[in-house]
Amino acid sequence: SQDHEISVSGKKLISDDFTTATPKILSRVGANLHNQEGHPLCIIKEQIRDYFYRSSLNKRGNPLFSIYDNLSPVVTVWQNFDSVLVPGDHVSRRKGDNYYLNREFMLRAHTSAHQHELVNSGLDAFLVAGDVYRRDEIDATHFPVFHQMEGVRLFSDFELFDKYPDAKLKLFCNDPVRIQEKQEHHTLEAVKLVEFDLKQTLEGLAKYLFGEEIEVRWVVTDFPFTHPSFELEIKFQGEWLEVLGCGIMEQELLHSAGAGHKIGYAFGLGLERLAMVLFNIPDIRLFWSLDPRFINQFKVPDPQKVKFKPFSKFPPVFHDISFWCPDDGFISNDFYDLVRSVAGETAEKVELIDDFLHPKTGRISHCYRITYRSMDKTLTKDEVGLIHSDLTSKCNTLLGVEVRG
Ligand code: PHE
Repeated sequence: SQDHEISVSGKKLISDDFTTATPKILSRVGANLHNQEGHPLCIIKEQIRDYFYRSSLNKRGNPLFSIYDNLSPVVTVWQNFDSVLVPGDHVSRRKGDNYYLNREFMLRAHTSAHQHELVNSGLDAFLVAGDVYRRDEIDATHFPVFHQMEGVRLFSDFELFDKYPDAKLKLFCNDPVRIQEKQEHHTLEAVKLVEFDLKQTLEGLAKYLFGEEIEVRWVVTDFPFTHPSFELEIKFQGEWLEVLGCGIMEQELLHSAGAGHKIGYAFGLGLERLAMVLFNIPDIRLFWSLDPRFINQFKVPDPQKVKFKPFSKFPPVFHDISFWCPDDGFISNDFYDLVRSVAGETAEKVELIDDFLHPKTGRISHCYRITYRSMDKTLTKDEVGLIHSDLTSKCNTLLGVEVRG
């Protein structure tokens, strides 16, 4: 992969020893499902946008938030990580988890990659919708490209405290200690007001999307770019499902983006998760399906009310593959990417069914079960056999493993 030219979204880049992006993944760049009218990801994006427009009208009737849904997913490693304070040795930077184009550029792993530039351009309230890329396992809820919507809202002391003009409240103080509730130099009253606004806004969004009866709960968590940080979970089919991360923006980030005199919140939500729940979509690959039986179900006057009716599934074909891992280590996402490259969407699921350490040689063997199934047609045994033997030979040549059978 070294020293090849990569062309992606109008840019030409030279690959290097950091490159992990595959031609298959690059072929997804530009699909922009979130901008395809009538696509469920576009429908949910528009609903979220409308909620923010409506709930933030100023005295002149203009919305406070502006939306950016066409920013290139090709970002610098600096934008994706450093600009949002992700430490140099943080696990989220691993080559095994990200699609690096080379040492300098990558496919964004989250829409937070744009926080810094947009705050720096002077915006106080914005939404970013876009495709994001992460190397991951293969099953009904994971796909290496998915979509996020980011939101940022900044407050000046004047805006935050306008209801209490006589109280002499301040955003910042000299308190140098960081505690669970707040960052150093924030006043507790400022943080609590912003946190309250953030939680009200996002609970309101959940009710707007799913109805007043939806059950929600907040879970405290950690992100490098917010503190305190929270996740919102919604109750779906009896289980708590995480749908977004959010928090009070790190002041250092705001300061470096030229907005150090304001305090802000940020959130990032997963559009597929929300759309799968809202429309009852059982498999994440359906978002990429060109089958009219999928997309036509959303071409109705009230698309936000659609409950997807699954069409009958075509039969699966199973194959197992087992191999000795190379002695210098093995990254399972390398295998998943190879499956994605060879089999595309016909790979429905890949499970590690056996993981075995040879007692004498110390070598490690992995056995995976692959479920092949197409969304649009019955796959013949021969057809799948060809795909699987192609995969087997590429495992030998490209992954440096020794296939056992
Ligand atoms: N970027 C985070 C993620 O992808 C979500 C997030 C956005 C969290 C903004 C906090 C603030 O998981």
